[in-house]
Amino acid sequence: MILQENDITLRPYTLADATALAKIANTAKIADNLRDLFPHPYTIDDAKAFIQKNINGEIKGVFAIIYKDQLVGSIGIHLQPDVYRKTAELGYFVAEKYWNKGIASKSIELITKYGFESLHLTRIFAGVFQYNKASMRVLEKNGYILECIKRKAIYKKKQILDEYYYAKVNE
Ligand SMILES: CC(C)(COP(=O)(O)OP(=O)(O)OC[C@H]1O[C@@H](n2cnc3c(N)ncnc32)[C@H](O)[C@@H]1OP(=O)(O)O)[C@@H](O)C(=O)NCCC(=O)NCCS
Repeated sequence: MILQENDITLRPYTLADATALAKIANTAKIADNLRDLFPHPYTIDDAKAFIQKNINGEIKGVFAIIYKDQLVGSIGIHLQPDVYRKTAELGYFVAEKYWNKGIASKSIELITKYGFESLHLTRIFAGVFQYNKASMRVLEKNGYILECIKRKAIYKKKQILDEYYYAKVNE
């Protein structure tokens, strides 16, 4: 599946993306906003292992974000199990060099449309660390609603943080 609009393309990863992925992902500015399972430092072997899991189908719903022919980020829509099977969790990052160009906003727009129209989801959500105002903004710009603040839900880098829980439902 390829999702495309203007300068932004969301497409599946190939192993040829490993070097570029490691290059953009290897920074605390990204890792500090994601779960600890996101490697830091992020090596080419980490990138290869992640891409291989996508190719095998072990990880589903992940797209490389391509902007003007460059790999600039990653976005994933992860289906939830059991009775939550019509709900998915959204995760994303954009390379620091490309921040504030509207890339995450457009990528979230494309993947949300795909989730509702092609996957027939009823609900998509994302959990944001309390200090991550840019991420809150891109969700709000796409019509995601702050449904609750999960107080002290996160323990990241020896800090206890609130999680801002955003969701959008398919009306
Ligand atoms: C969050 C992230 C994906 C945003 O990507 P991006 O491509 O720069 O996003 P966009 O350019 O589409 O939009 C950024 C918006 O946040 C705003 N913003 C940026 N920094 C901000 C800050 N410190 N406070 C408030 N708003 C901020 C920008 O002004 C812009 O809003 P606008 O369009 O109304 O001006 C990117 O910063 C990132 O990858 N961060 C690290 C990983 C991460 O946080 N992932 C999400 C985990 S929930």
